[in-house]
Amino acid sequence: MTVALFSSQKYEQAPFDTCLQDQPSISITHFEQALTEQSTILCKGFDAVCIFVNDLANEAVIKQLAEQGIKCILLRCAGFNNVDLTAAKAHNIKVCRVPAYSPEAVAEHCVALMLTLNRKTHKAYNRIREDNFDLNGLLGFNLFKKTIGIIGCGKIGLALVNILNGFGANVLVCDPYAEQGDYTLCDLDTLLSQSDVISLHCPLNDQTHHIINEHAFSKMKPGVMIINTSRGALVDSKACISALKSKKLGYLGLDVYEQESELFFKDRRDEIMQDDIFSRLVSFPNVLVTGHQGFFTKEALSEIAQTTINNAIEFANNQPLSNEVK
Ligand code: NAI
Repeated sequence: MTVALFSSQKYEQAPFDTCLQDQPSISITHFEQALTEQSTILCKGFDAVCIFVNDLANEAVIKQLAEQGIKCILLRCAGFNNVDLTAAKAHNIKVCRVPAYSPEAVAEHCVALMLTLNRKTHKAYNRIREDNFDLNGLLGFNLFKKTIGIIGCGKIGLALVNILNGFGANVLVCDPYAEQGDYTLCDLDTLLSQSDVISLHCPLNDQTHHIINEHAFSKMKPGVMIINTSRGALVDSKACISALKSKKLGYLGLDVYEQESELFFKDRRDEIMQDDIFSRLVSFPNVLVTGHQGFFTKEALSEIAQTTINNAIEFANNQPLSNEVK
């Protein structure tokens, strides 16, 4: 089975090479390019494509993939909002994903954002390097006994609940499908109005698009902290800018951004930033943005490679697909 792997990064090659050592029947060609309508031409002669969060598999791309003979899309991520599943089905292309590679990796990154924004360790680091030992401006707050609202309590949300319970926080969960657990289940309005920190861990879909918008901000406590490590479009960036200016939003931690496919995963120091909303966001002293690195641990990379190759083997051998997305 031949696989064209798009948006390939240097750090991905070693984990895939290691997993492929005992799998001579699978061969993977790495392409740095993202999958787009223009790059589908590269798929000629391959059986499958392997794509990541910012590759595009809309109806037009899928039609072209089918014409090139692609029979399977191997997502090396959990989310599949970038794939038109109806089109894939219509063209008889199977779609498989990596449902969980390390929920703890994302949950731990989420806590890193919370603590950095709160205790301002990134600012302290720079001050101390310049022999500035002044504490003014570095004041934080205890997470102990704070109310932390988690929207979406699946694998990552639950890993976060476990960490936050260790801090002695009061954890609220809003998830229409969640069962009872070590948290207080509540509706979205209650979560928005009671939380000191709100963290997003639901998938992006029609119900959750811009779930954090102007209306949601109107219900929140002044000075609330919002963390989004899930998908950029859960948050209305323009509404965040207004809420930051009015100080309603006290802290914003983002690992994802609505227009991130234009920006993330590349060194763009030589370019002129064209995204004014992004520029404005990162100009606030109480905003911290990381470039979709929540998943980025050694353990997760190795799990992504292993599950992707298992998905490919199952497809190649006509076995039931454990991680098919329908
Ligand atoms: P999951 O499928 O295990 O959990 C999602 C949860 O959201 C489910 O419990 C579901 O019931 C809940 N949910 C669905 N609709 C909801 C709604 N309207 N309101 C509240 N809750 C709702 O997914 P998992 O693995 O926990 O991942 C969560 C998200 O994290 C993914 O969709 C993906 O977008 C993102 N992610 C980000 C990564 C990063 O590197 N920053 C890495 C991996 C995933």
